[in-house]
Amino acid sequence: MSNDADLRDKKVTTQRLREMKAAGEKIAALTAYDCTMAGLIDAAGVDVILVGDSVATVVQGLDTTVTVTMDHMLYHAGLVRRGVERALVVGDLPFMSYQVRADEALRNAGRMVKEAGVEAVKLEGGEPVCEAVQRMVRAGIPVMGHLGLTPQSIHSFGTYKVRARDEEEAEGVKRDALLLEEAGAFAIVLEKVPSDLAREVAESVQVPVIGIGAGPDVDGQILVSHDMLGLYTRFQPRFVRRYASIADDMRAAFGRYAEDVRGAAFPTPDESY
Ligand code: KIV
Repeated sequence: MSNDADLRDKKVTTQRLREMKAAGEKIAALTAYDCTMAGLIDAAGVDVILVGDSVATVVQGLDTTVTVTMDHMLYHAGLVRRGVERALVVGDLPFMSYQVRADEALRNAGRMVKEAGVEAVKLEGGEPVCEAVQRMVRAGIPVMGHLGLTPQSIHSFGTYKVRARDEEEAEGVKRDALLLEEAGAFAIVLEKVPSDLAREVAESVQVPVIGIGAGPDVDGQILVSHDMLGLYTRFQPRFVRRYASIADDMRAAFGRYAEDVRGAAFPTPDESY
């Protein structure tokens, strides 16, 4: 087996991600919400699979992530876990599952690990969630932070525009990244902030910073699978690169099928018993 194949086949752990940062190897991450998609992503050698609360928009057909529940996330995380062998599986903690009290946050993170079988959890925010992060880390649950555009706060942001363009918010992001690292987070997602700020944040912490709309100078990238596949097409942020046009292919296939059924071209004797 070549070194490349060796590297691709090794089970990804939080320690491995830290080593990748230290070695300057970029981390590839994607979201998944079901077993089939997760298995395909895993087989392609993607390092981290996030069961994101973006399930709200790309699967549930909603406009925001705020109504996603623990039960939704446990269900989808369990499906994803079943399809993955190599990648690190991270389960998103939904809005209000970790903000009220640190002990409640710990209990919900524990459910993600015990009931869904994920290897780590992700939560949004900085200083206000650090106590919860510490409790989880002390209990043996790896935690991924999420700063910048944190979609669970959409009702206070009022817009999905780029965050931290001004000095005050940028300083806040930098401070929160250091606090999350100090609290024990093993990685930080940084969403939709200027590239220069993202570079500064990535340089200021030892843990990997995984960007989404945060430019190239971070330790890895994450995209929502349905976006990069061209499967979810209701809108396309500038930071999404489409690697396929699956929605077009699916529409065409469904159309051909319906035509075949109506024209009695399906099934043939070969497709019958
Ligand atoms: O829920 C999600 O998919 C996310 C990613 C966009 C990082 O949080």
